[in-house]
This record gives sequence, C-alpha cells and structure tokens, in this order.
Amino acid sequence: MSKEITKETTKAIMKEITKDQYEQLDSSFIEKQMTTKCIGKKVAYYNEVDSTNVIAKQLGKKPDNHGTLVLAEQQNAGRGRLGRNWSSPKGDGIWMSLILQPDIRIEHASMLTLVTALAVNQGIRKVTGLNSFIKWPNDIVINGKKVCGILTEMSTINEKLECIVIGIGINANRDLFSEELKITATSLKLESGKEIERTSLIAAIMLYFESYYGIFAKEENLKGLIHDYNKMLINRNRQVKIIGSNSEYIGLALGINETGALLVQTEEMITGEKKTVIKTVMSGEVSVRGVYGYV
Ligand code: BTN
Repeated sequence: MSKEITKETTKAIMKEITKDQYEQLDSSFIEKQMTTKCIGKKVAYYNEVDSTNVIAKQLGKKPDNHGTLVLAEQQNAGRGRLGRNWSSPKGDGIWMSLILQPDIRIEHASMLTLVTALAVNQGIRKVTGLNSFIKWPNDIVINGKKVCGILTEMSTINEKLECIVIGIGINANRDLFSEELKITATSLKLESGKEIERTSLIAAIMLYFESYYGIFAKEENLKGLIHDYNKMLINRNRQVKIIGSNSEYIGLALGINETGALLVQTEEMITGEKKTVIKTVMSGEVSVRGVYGYV
C-alpha cells in the first residue's frame, strides 16, 4: 500500500535519512540529560549558523541567559583564536557556546578559558576513556594532535561585563580533515575507534564546568584548580617555543600560576651574564608550540 506523501511523512523520511548519517542533536533531549543546576540547563539549538559565538553574544544581551548553551550542527563561519577560522562541518562535531552573565571583574574573564579547558578535558576522559591533555592555555590534545579548541569572547557596556561567551569546538566523530589540518588535528572517533555519543559528552562537560566554575568564582582565580590543571598540562616539564608578534624564545614550561599565566624558565643575558629567569606568559597574543612540533 502506498503511503500518501504528506508534510509529516516527508519529515519522517528526512529524519531517518539524517539519523543514518549522524546522531541528531535534540535540545530537549540534551536538556533532560543535563544533571547540572544551571549550566547548560537551557539549550538553544540551530541546524546551521555562521558562528555559535555570534548567536550567543546576541542572546547574552538579554537577562536570564546565564548558563544557556548555544549548539549548532554546522557553522559556516566558525571562529578560532587569533583571528583564524574554525572548520565546523555538519553532523560530526560539537560546536557550542556557553553564555555566562557573571558578576566578575573584566580582567578575570580570560581565566574562564582555562576553567573550560579543564572541564572539557575531564569530560572527554570520562566519556571516552581517552588520555586527553591540555595544551596551554586551552587546546585539548590526544597523541600530540588537537581535538578541541576554545574561544572566549565577551561584551561590555560602559566598562561593565555584559556577558562572556565561551565557544567550544570538539572534533567528535570527524573522519576527514584537510591535508593542512591533518598534521595537527584529530578527532575523538579517530583516536578511540568508536562513534562518540555527543549528547553524553556535552552533558559531562557542563557538569564538570559547573563544579570548576564554582571553585573559580570563590576568589575569581585558579588557586583551587592549579593542581588539577597542571596535572593535565601536556607542556609541563617540556621545552616550549613562545611565539609573540615581535619575538620568540624557548624555555621550560613549569605550569600555570593562579591567574592562568604559564611560567616558563629560560636563560637571559643580564648585564653581560647568562641568568636563569622565570617568565610569566599571558595568553592572548602569544602562541605556544613544542620545540619539534605542535606540542
Ligand atoms: C581555537 O582556535 O582553538 C578556538 C576554536 C573555537 C571554535 C568554537 S566552535 C564553537 C564556537 N563558535 C565559534 O565560532 N568558535 C567556537
């Protein structure tokens, strides 16, 4: 018996087709899986956007969006750090932005990127069992390649914080990368050999974030998180190259301090003598690389 082709049957067929290709994200299902008190409790889901960070910044102008998570299946103009773009194809990544409307000082906001890196790293470990690590300040790496990047942006009104948007891009079930990306990027699926259930990973990350955020918010610093962060820091006790806009140097990464700066031991000529100095490297305008490659 032939079925009448109605709007409903077309919708059902379309759903089946997309389901075959990838696990469809669903905002009410994600909201139900969320075990947090506030973070990620409200999910704004989009099929296709330019950038979830842009949408989140718009939503962040409205009150009562603290903790709202913006998710998209595909980004057409995904943004990366230092003005780079972020490749965000349909269906196999987690492209999301968390909105925060906290009462903290503007200059403390960048530390939230490190709080997020810790939460994402722990979420990945918990859900996939993979040995992921943090590359300072906020990349998550597995076997020397990047699986996640974080971009924190904020908007202010009259020098007061209006909202902070933490954009998180995770290569979850991605099989293919361009020749250029292949050198430094990988995915959770490629590393584990298994399809990742994105909803569970999103829920785990939000739960870790809520807990770490609570620790950060007490004193608006990373004092209570330094130990956990440094344990997961891939650069720790390794030689790193610090690349600034006008200079670069090599040193030994020791770990972060309570503001999230990277402490790097290096040698400098001071009044004609070679001296060991500890530099405090702030994130923002510098890139950190391993001496022989990305990590
Ligand atoms: C990086 O360069 O490492 C940061 C990449 C951040 C990408 C995420 S994907 C979701 C959110 N929306 C964006 O446009 N960028 C971030």
